[in-house]
This record gives sequence, C-alpha cells and structure tokens, in this order.
Amino acid sequence: MTPRQLAIIEQIKAAVAHELFADASGHDWWHAQRVHAVAAVLAEEEGADRFVVACAALLHDISDYKLNGGDHRKGPETAARLLDQLGCPEEADRVATIIGEISYEGAGGTSGASTLEAQVVQDADRLDAIGAIGIARAFAFGGAKGHLMHVPGAEPVMHASRDEYLARTSTTVNHFYEKLLLLVDRMNTPTARRMGERRQRVMQDFLAEFLREWDGQDLGGVTP
Ligand code: ADP
Ligand code: NI
Repeated sequence: MTPRQLAIIEQIKAAVAHELFADASGHDWWHAQRVHAVAAVLAEEEGADRFVVACAALLHDISDYKLNGGDHRKGPETAARLLDQLGCPEEADRVATIIGEISYEGAGGTSGASTLEAQVVQDADRLDAIGAIGIARAFAFGGAKGHLMHVPGAEPVMHASRDEYLARTSTTVNHFYEKLLLLVDRMNTPTARRMGERRQRVMQDFLAEFLREWDGQDLGGVTP
C-alpha cells in the first residue's frame, strides 16, 4: 500500500473507533479491528485489493442496520461519505457495495458477495462470529436485545428467506443453529474455511456442554 493509503486507513480507524467504541452488542471497535486484521491476511493469501479490503473491513459495521433501527442503506452511505471526504471517490463506491452485500440473510439465503474483496471481508466478519469470540458476541448481542438465552425443547428454527430471518425473535442458542454453525461451510475462500475449523469445534463443544449443564447432567460425579 502507498503511504497515502496507509494515512487514510489511520483516519478511518480514528473515525470508526469514535463511532463504535461504546457498543455493547458485539459490534464494538475491537470487532472492527479483528475483522480488519484477519481480512488483511485473507487479502494477502487470496490476492485481493488490500486497500479496498482494509477500508471495507474497518467500516463494515458503521451504522449497521441491526443497530440503527433497520435502515439497510445507512451503513454503505456513511462509509462512502467518509471515503469521499478523505479523497477516495472510486473506493467509496466499491466499499459501499461491499458493505451492502456482506450481511447474513438466513439459513436459506445466499452469500451475496460478488467480488473477491467482498468475499474476503465477509469471511473475516464471519470468522469473528464463530469460535470463542463468536460465542461471547452472540450472548452479548442477545443480552443487548433482550433475547432469552435458551428455551428447552424448542426445535431449531431455520429461516427460509432474508425477511423471515430479519423478522425473527429467537433465542441465542437458536442463533447457533440458524447461523453460527452454518458459517464454516459457507466461507467463500479456502483459507477462511481452514481458519474456521477449530472455531467450529469450539462452538460444538460449547453447545454440548451448555445443554448437558442445562439438563443437570454435569454435577462432577456427585449424584443427587
Ligand atoms: P452480519 O452482518 O452477518 O449479521 P455482523 O458482524 O454485523 O454480521 O454481526 C453478526 C453478529 O451479531 C453475530 O455473529 C452475532 O454475534 C450477533 N447476532 C446477530 N443476530 C443475533 C441473534 N439473533 N442472537 C445472537 N447474536 C446475534
Ligand atoms: Ni461485523
């Protein structure tokens, strides 16, 4: 990357840190930073445009529809405005398109990522939604939204369309079945799929333990 591009990335970081710092739903500045770091590795491995990927990774959750009252246009627009102000009109369009494309659309939805850069940012975002951090973020999000953790006996709900997925009010444990456990097989790039394997096992082990404890089966050998 050129020194100018590196300077622009620093300005974007400052703007995103300011905007997302206090978010308690798992979409905080540290999430943006982790997605940026992983996306940079994926971009290198997969041969994607590193500057566009860095901009989109840092900006992907700015004014996200899940946090701004449901407006899907606001995130891409906010990101494009900032890049325009920083003198990058061409990247503004490309980054806005990526941000508009990468959100999850339910178990029956499609990936939507139409360019290698969008695929890389989507994979990095999804890697941060799984594994130990993914578990923590899911419960933080559920708590912030007032969702129940789990309702025993409820069958996992798989939403057939984007609208059905977005209209749902399911438990956080259901979110593992409707989304988080499906992500590793839906990674766009082979590198991200490889990175996700261990995180997948962490979630599977966590859920098995969670359900055992819930059912009172894990009392350390002490019998009631
Ligand atoms: P996406 O754009 O694909 O939705 P984000 O990074 O913006 O990705 O946020 C997704 C994260 O938000 C999920 O991985 C999860 O941690 C959290 N989340 C979203 N919906 C729910 C839900 N219903 N229950 C628990 N967590 C959720
Ligand atoms: Ni995200």
